[in-house]
Amino acid sequence: MVLHGPNLNLLGTREPDRYGSQTLVSLNAEITQLGDELGVSLSCFQSNHEGELVDQIQQAEVAGFLINAAAYTHTSIAIRDALLARALPFVEIHLSNVYSREVFRHQSYLSDIAIGIVSGFGTNSYLLGLRAIYDHLRSK
Ligand code: DQA
Repeated sequence: MVLHGPNLNLLGTREPDRYGSQTLVSLNAEITQLGDELGVSLSCFQSNHEGELVDQIQQAEVAGFLINAAAYTHTSIAIRDALLARALPFVEIHLSNVYSREVFRHQSYLSDIAIGIVSGFGTNSYLLGLRAIYDHLRSK
């Protein structure tokens, strides 16, 4: 499952110099297409609400997650705890390189419990993350 956090519904128009011009609908289609090529069935979910992301993490019948928790990356113990409760592998995704930005973005509640992090490659971060979690799950 691919989870997108707050403000990622605005992809394409939100700070395009930083986040690019591709819309979320188009990005989800591209991720799903790569999933099809790999033989993985994917669902994508975006919410601006922390609790809805927690609900999805709790309820999803999936093998793992790609999660761009957006600003909640830097604040959300609730999302961290939900991921710990599921104990499923996940990759932390960011479009931008959060380590080249403000210091408050260097803090993540997810990084130390993720199998890995992909940050800074624009929408390609998701595709790289999907390949990485696919290889990880296949090796298990
Ligand atoms: C982001 C980086 C976060 O710091 C920011 O709050 C976002 C997007 C990224 O994809 O680069 O909303 O997760």
